[in-house]
Amino acid sequence: MDVASFSAQLEELQARAIAAIAEAASPEALDAIEHAMLGRKGELKGLLGGIGQLPAEDRPKVGALANPVRTAIEEALAERRVGLEAEALDARLLAEAEDVTLPGRPVWRGSLHPLRETEREIARIFGQFGFVVFDSPEVETDERNFEALNIPADHPARDLWDTIYVHDPAAETRGDRLLLRTHTSPGQIRAMQADEPPIRVLTPGRCYRYEAVDASHGFEFFQIEGLMVDEGTTLGHLRGLLDAFAHAMFGADRATRFRPGYYPFTEPSVAFDIGCVVCEGEGCAACKRTGWMTILGAGMVHPEVLRNGGIDPERFQGFAFGMGTDRIAMLRYAITDIRAFLANDLRFLERL
Ligand code: PHE
Repeated sequence: MDVASFSAQLEELQARAIAAIAEAASPEALDAIEHAMLGRKGELKGLLGGIGQLPAEDRPKVGALANPVRTAIEEALAERRVGLEAEALDARLLAEAEDVTLPGRPVWRGSLHPLRETEREIARIFGQFGFVVFDSPEVETDERNFEALNIPADHPARDLWDTIYVHDPAAETRGDRLLLRTHTSPGQIRAMQADEPPIRVLTPGRCYRYEAVDASHGFEFFQIEGLMVDEGTTLGHLRGLLDAFAHAMFGADRATRFRPGYYPFTEPSVAFDIGCVVCEGEGCAACKRTGWMTILGAGMVHPEVLRNGGIDPERFQGFAFGMGTDRIAMLRYAITDIRAFLANDLRFLERL
């Protein structure tokens, strides 16, 4: 053994150590390399153990060669430790990262029910003439639903407007009989009792009748009532207002007409027709070959009804009208079965 061969072995040891360090994949692997190379029983110590075979003057030379080898290995270890830590951090960040480019889940967009939508459109049109929405309850007294509207207990109109009665002992001791309203007309009485003329209100809402349910009749349906009370109110005002409504709702060219009608709470009473929206007046199955469709009932408020509302019929006149919201919506959206509105079938609701 001479200095040169020690030098060669040291070089080889350093190269092997550096290569192993570069490939080490964990801090534990680095610890093992350090232990094997630089440890108390490691390769470097082992190699230097053979130094005694050299002449005394050569020994410091080998020592001087060995120190940079140790330092180089130590530095490589330290550097690789830092590198491994950075790699571990990168891997963790990658695993924790949220991919913000992922498309969002679609939000289910709701929309107004066709009945509510129609109700709002009707209120918007009459709103332009100063009418405001006036809420009136679905559970009514017999008094407001019938008596105050000129429909006494034995009146034949009660047969058409039979309904569900609500048993309420407290109301009964007060002399009231409660029922589910058969039309929105009791809203007229409430509006007149709540306000002084001039009155212009719209009362929308649900009504109930004892009805054989079919494609055009529900035992549960919707109406919108209109009421105007003022000095000098005439049938002409009613006609003009309903024309404007029909034109806004069903087109500016829509033909309209009044026919005589009968309601106990209006005098005179009329039915308001529009030209058939299906055949435009030609005559078809939808208009029973008449070319006309009735969309509402109306008339001048009966003086007795004004009086029941606390209004002096000598001074004030009024008109009222009532239309089926379902019917208007059916004409608007070409719906042929009234039962579809409350069936809660999403396929129906999404199609509109
Ligand atoms: N209440 C009547 C009905 O349900 C409609 C109507 C309202 C008629 C107001 C005249 C005036 O058929």
